[in-house]
Amino acid sequence: MPLIAILAGDGIGPEVTAQARRVLDALGLDFSYQEALVGGVAYHQLGHPLPPATLELAKRSDAILFGAVGDPSCDGLERSLRPEQAILGLRKELGLFANLRPATLFKGLEDASALRPEVASAIDLVIVRETNGDVYFGDKGIRTTAAGRREGYDIMSYDEDEVTRIARVGFETARTRQRRLCSIDKANVLETSQLWRDVVIALSADYPDVELTHMYVDNAAMQLVRNPGQFDVIVTGNLFGDILSDQASMCAGSIGMLPSATLNGSGQGLYEPIHGSAPDIAGQGKANPCAAILSAAMMLRHSLGMPEAADRIEAAVAAAILGGARTPDLGGTLSTAAMGDAVLAQIG
Ligand code: NAD
Ligand code: IPM
Ligand code: MN
Repeated sequence: MPLIAILAGDGIGPEVTAQARRVLDALGLDFSYQEALVGGVAYHQLGHPLPPATLELAKRSDAILFGAVGDPSCDGLERSLRPEQAILGLRKELGLFANLRPATLFKGLEDASALRPEVASAIDLVIVRETNGDVYFGDKGIRTTAAGRREGYDIMSYDEDEVTRIARVGFETARTRQRRLCSIDKANVLETSQLWRDVVIALSADYPDVELTHMYVDNAAMQLVRNPGQFDVIVTGNLFGDILSDQASMCAGSIGMLPSATLNGSGQGLYEPIHGSAPDIAGQGKANPCAAILSAAMMLRHSLGMPEAADRIEAAVAAAILGGARTPDLGGTLSTAAMGDAVLAQIG
């Protein structure tokens, strides 16, 4: 029986994960769950954001259903003890390098998008974001210069093997869709990006059926709001992908709508909304649980071999939205649990 590790975390993490869990339970599928502490709550109770027992559970699970980490009361801690280190540590320790972030506009959400309805309705893309390298994992610190001034630094780097393996995921993902891949970089300024671009171009010889284009990240940020419909699959580095996916979420109606899967190539995956712990609305029943529910669907599809069940969840979310179910971020008044009810009602 597959084992799902439930790491709900901080803030709205437990609120939205509870709704994803209800939806999974309603499907009557055969798997077991085990919960563990992660993030600020783990730091406060056990002294570390990613305690050994949590990491051990994650390693032996088939899939991880993750909520969010982040706690303002931890912002002053030394970096290794901050909640965010838990998600970074899980991605690194489990080799979860390929973060898939689909952004589509659910029918009915045209007026929730920050874009004009006719521009917004065309968005249907997947961002393939690398999550094991880049400036996130390079040498970093705050040092003192010869002049006695403090200087912060974070080294950006990618080696060619790291670029090849994420680019391959980009090309393969494009093959399951419209066969158009846009690689986003900053090759006009950054050496890391020049190598990225060279390696992606070299790999494209293996994928003559996929149309490859390149775009600088600043232009990409503009094009995403000018005409998001032009993109099919985007492949990009850790930092650019982080920023562009939050932006894409608002084209699709809300950050509360975007799920993600982070894969390591062995079938195991971590599934989480792209949003964070949202301390500004935590504990108020205002969070939109759709991103978490849709992340559970991605888990069924990518790690548990249950694509029909994934389709059922996605169809239920689409039907609930079309029927007018809206949390406050979508301009409505439903609570987190009531939104869960609306999705469950469609599952039947
Ligand atoms: P955030 O995504 O938590 O929130 C940004 C804004 O979006 C807030 O106004 C919030 O209320 C709103 N929002 C987010 N999710 C929502 C939902 N499901 N429904 C309705 N509204 C929603 O980003 P932030 O405020 O920059 O970060 C808060 C904390 O979360 C920080 O500690 C940050 O490091 C952490 N974080 C964690 C993850 C993760 O666990 N993977 C991701 C992003 C941020
Ligand atoms: C995300 C988050 C994380 C990231 C943070 C919390 C480390 O923003 O998952 O998008 O930057 O990857
Ligand atoms: Mn982010």
